[in-house]
Amino acid sequence: MIKADNFKLPTTSLFLISLSVISVLNLLGFNVIYSPCLAQSNVNDPSTAKNLTITCTGCHGTEGLSNAPLWPNLAGQKKEYLAKQLLAFKNNERKDPLMNPIASSLSDSDIELIATYFSNLKP
Ligand code: HEC
Repeated sequence: MIKADNFKLPTTSLFLISLSVISVLNLLGFNVIYSPCLAQSNVNDPSTAKNLTITCTGCHGTEGLSNAPLWPNLAGQKKEYLAKQLLAFKNNERKDPLMNPIASSLSDSDIELIATYFSNLKP
């Protein structure tokens, strides 16, 4: 379930690259889905934070500990720092071809929930 119109993408190729990354991860069994589908879920649902982070786990690891050298660990990172980085990716102040499209679909409350979730995981 991909809603391409929810993404502000610099170029079509970046979109295709991130789509292929997601597809490959899905094939590998990571079950990655784009967050816009989840971003609209009910904020009162206690599983919302975990649902929001399903997209992230493909790269940052199921417990926020990544296996790839260039994909940072998020587990146990300071909440304020995580929120600041997500906002910076969202606003294109920090640039990364993978993170910018992902963060662009997150609301302020999503960012708050996600930052809290990862900061509470064991580093
Ligand atoms: C397709 C892979 C991929 C996915 C999916 C992904 N990320 Fe990332 N993320 C990255 C990469 C690569 C970086 C490092 C960017 C850089 O080098 O600046 C990063 C960086 C970050 C950082 C900054 C960490 C730091 O130490 O500065 C945060 C926070 C983050 N991601 C959160 C998330 C969240 C939350 C999600 C899910 C909504 C997510 N990421 C999904 C690849 C991904």
